Amino acid sequence: MRAYDIIFNKRNGKKLSQQEISFIVNGYNNGEIADYQMSAFLMAVYFQSLDDEETFSLTKSMAESGESLDLSFLDGPTADKHSTGGVGDGTSLLIAPILAACGVYVPMMSGRALGHTGGTLDKLESIPGFNVNLDKEEFIKVLKENKFAMIGQTKEVAPVDKKMYALRDVTATVESIPLICSSIMSKKIAEGAANILLDVKTGKAAFIQKYEESKLLAEKMVQVGKMFGRNMTAVITDMNEPLGNAAGNSLEIIQTIEVLKNKLRNDFSELSIELAAYTLLQTKISNTLEKARSLAEEQISSGKALEKFIKMIELQNGDTKVIDDYSVFGKAENIYEVKAIKNGYLKYVDTRNIGVTSCLLGAGRLKTEDKIDPVSGIIFNKKTGDKINKGDILFELHYNKADIDGILKILKKSYDIIEHKPDVQKRVLETI
Ligand code: URA
Repeated sequence: MRAYDIIFNKRNGKKLSQQEISFIVNGYNNGEIADYQMSAFLMAVYFQSLDDEETFSLTKSMAESGESLDLSFLDGPTADKHSTGGVGDGTSLLIAPILAACGVYVPMMSGRALGHTGGTLDKLESIPGFNVNLDKEEFIKVLKENKFAMIGQTKEVAPVDKKMYALRDVTATVESIPLICSSIMSKKIAEGAANILLDVKTGKAAFIQKYEESKLLAEKMVQVGKMFGRNMTAVITDMNEPLGNAAGNSLEIIQTIEVLKNKLRNDFSELSIELAAYTLLQTKISNTLEKARSLAEEQISSGKALEKFIKMIELQNGDTKVIDDYSVFGKAENIYEVKAIKNGYLKYVDTRNIGVTSCLLGAGRLKTEDKIDPVSGIIFNKKTGDKINKGDILFELHYNKADIDGILKILKKSYDIIEHKPDVQKRVLETI
């Protein structure tokens, strides 16, 4: 078999066999297939797509590129949540400690910034010293001790997704249903959680923007998960405006800490509680969504979720001083305030571009080897439907080094101030 022929066949719309797919995945994993060949393969899949059988084969080969963890020895339910990616979407940071405080084991394997969206691993690494690269033994040790651990794909578990994910990030091959499905599900299958909740984003700032296609992605991932014997739920949520009040790595961690300290409530905390509640139903910790919501809520108000979060930072070598002293994160040299030039109501019109703006401020990568600037990003002082007076600060742009004039040009096209209050879209649209 040759990589060339597999790329050629997919480029021309031919169906690939399980053997061909595992040849290209294994070859890429062990270095026999080059980045440029994998890039071409990914682009061919982007244009020609994969059918259900090929998607299953790709997910299986990717999951089997390393070891699969068997967590059946743990004395409680195991669950994980994964989002298809959005702007300001840091709900994993809140959901994991809430679930752990409720007695659920959460072996969370997350990703880095992808395209215009942020990544949980980059956010966690904004905490000085925090280690997302635990090996299998360390991961299980932290999981046993604190009921949750947050790591990236490792040399041992889902290694090929790490490489493919980084390549897709910089080759415009993220927005593909089979590639998103196999990337997410291969990690989730390999990490071993029995219950999986998927937050499938839809709208302007999602990778899959059209509702019907987002639903298709949700259905495909649920189907693949069930084929691997997992208990699956998918929730389709709106991604037409940023979630919460921050996009950027340390900025989102600070927002999470503020919620855990009971000092902040916003749409980010609301969605996190809702998604945690779905998982509590899945794991049968609660038997109604209402009870599950109040149980999740209680973990924040009692401070138990904060305790779990602090313990996780400590066990993963992070500096726990960040909890009480945000200056430990460091601070951007520049903060540019974007002010309203007229009265009216705020409406986000292109949140994808807001994500691009955050990336250009330094919160994302333009090339795989780029370093993220942990303190850069955007604070959203106003949300869709908020009343605006001329001169109000709409956004704060935090950055160290950036082409601020170019960024402002992009940002200006991303929102509008209109005369009449716009409808505020509810976040959770459908459950599958
Ligand atoms: N999250 C992932 O892990 N992979 C994707 O492709 C998109 C979001």
